[in-house]
Amino acid sequence: MTAAQKPNAAPTILVVDDEAVVRDSLRAWFRDDGYEVDVAEGAHRALELLGERAYDIALLDIKMPEVDGLALQARMRELCPETTVVMMTAYASVETAVQALKAGAYDYIVKPFDPDELSHLIERAHEHRSLQSENLRLKRSLEAVATPLPIVGVSPAMRHVVELIRKVAPTDATVLVQGPSGTGKELVARAVHAQSPRRYDPLVTVHCGALAEGVLESELFGHEKGAFTGASHLHQGKFEQADGGTIFLDEIGDIRPQVQVDLLRVLEEKRVTRVGGRRSVPVDFRVVAATNRDLRALTRTGEFREDLFWRLNVVPIDIPPLRERPEDVLPLAEHFLGELRRSMNRRDLRLSDEARERLQAYPWPGNARELQNAIERAVVLGSSPCVEVRDLPRYVREDPPQPPSTSLADVERAHVRAVLEDHDWNVTHAARALGIDRGTLYHKMHRFELARP
Ligand SMILES: Nc1ncnc2c1ncn2[C@@H]1O[C@H](COP(=O)(O)OP(=O)(O)OP(=O)(O)O)[C@@H](O)[C@H]1O
Ligand SMILES: [Mg+2]
Repeated sequence: MTAAQKPNAAPTILVVDDEAVVRDSLRAWFRDDGYEVDVAEGAHRALELLGERAYDIALLDIKMPEVDGLALQARMRELCPETTVVMMTAYASVETAVQALKAGAYDYIVKPFDPDELSHLIERAHEHRSLQSENLRLKRSLEAVATPLPIVGVSPAMRHVVELIRKVAPTDATVLVQGPSGTGKELVARAVHAQSPRRYDPLVTVHCGALAEGVLESELFGHEKGAFTGASHLHQGKFEQADGGTIFLDEIGDIRPQVQVDLLRVLEEKRVTRVGGRRSVPVDFRVVAATNRDLRALTRTGEFREDLFWRLNVVPIDIPPLRERPEDVLPLAEHFLGELRRSMNRRDLRLSDEARERLQAYPWPGNARELQNAIERAVVLGSSPCVEVRDLPRYVREDPPQPPSTSLADVERAHVRAVLEDHDWNVTHAARALGIDRGTLYHKMHRFELARP
């Protein structure tokens, strides 16, 4: 369902006219008809409002001092082409109205208007707008569905991941994807959605970690007009946008306890209350969450609520780091190279045997993403169609193959390094995972000469 069709989101109209009496009467009429209305006395104010929010319909007076309706219409075509434009004109300038139609206006109405005729026209304009956005949405989801998302991997771990997706995708079960950065968590989330019956409805992503304190609630749940300073309009949250589809809660381990409480309630009740709102609205969504942190461990330190953890951990999908599935390295490298063959239209691209060896020997702390970057870089910077060792990033070239570890110290060094890499060289997190304090970890890093690369 589009935003415009949703019963809980009133269609929005912007009225632009230099005559106060026209603005006031139109505002009153449209409000009575259940629309949300803003008015502007000229193009300047109109553009300000258009910068703040999207309108379903704009009703523009053609003759205005300074900037006229036609010029405003032209600006709007660049700024917000999806808004349906209706022109208002006095009888004398019907010709101009025809000009506006040619420039893409939906229709025009001659002043003074008959209220019924106007209501009817706006209703049709709104229908037109809904159909248009529905078309656009369908087109987008068709594109997403038509573009298959291959999950490459021959390791038992990746086969298991693919099998789990196949089994769980058709259900409505909540999925929790865990794995270090760059292992393909988002890819898995998209595959779950694409293989589910919800695939023709939106997949809405929330990057929970990227949002500033206080913004997440209104981002997730929406807010009512006037909920806080600056909330000049009703705002639909991500849950409402995901109605009928899937919501992907990325970096779920990074949300604050207070939001965790609200989130848990929404997941349990399948209803959201907008910030500043008094009633809740029902929403139909499927949840996929992802994190590169160990959520289980976070529940033990109290950073993540246990009840929310259990609510999310219905079907866990764990993606191991690439270094633990070395057999996936070359298939992935070939896959990324294949994508470049297509996108750059260079069918001659290939990997030299030495480059393959080097790729295979490197531990890929940044996982598939790092491998993808290395291949892309090599192809872009390399001079021949064959990727050679010298085209690979220096750290990939130089990391000497580790001699088999025999002494206890070697094993300890390798383990400490692996854990640090898993935690992106965050000493606090790595120390916690190793069960030692930070001071001890610093000491070991110094002794083993380990430092963030
Ligand atoms: N098994 C795979 N097969 C094909 N492509 C993969 C695979 N794993 C990862 N990729 C690709 O590697 C890149 C990184 O993957 P993605 O963004 O899904 O990782 P992530 O786990 O979400 O990372 P982060 O924790 O940093 O958000 C993407 O371009 C993705 O398509
Ligand atoms: Mg991601």
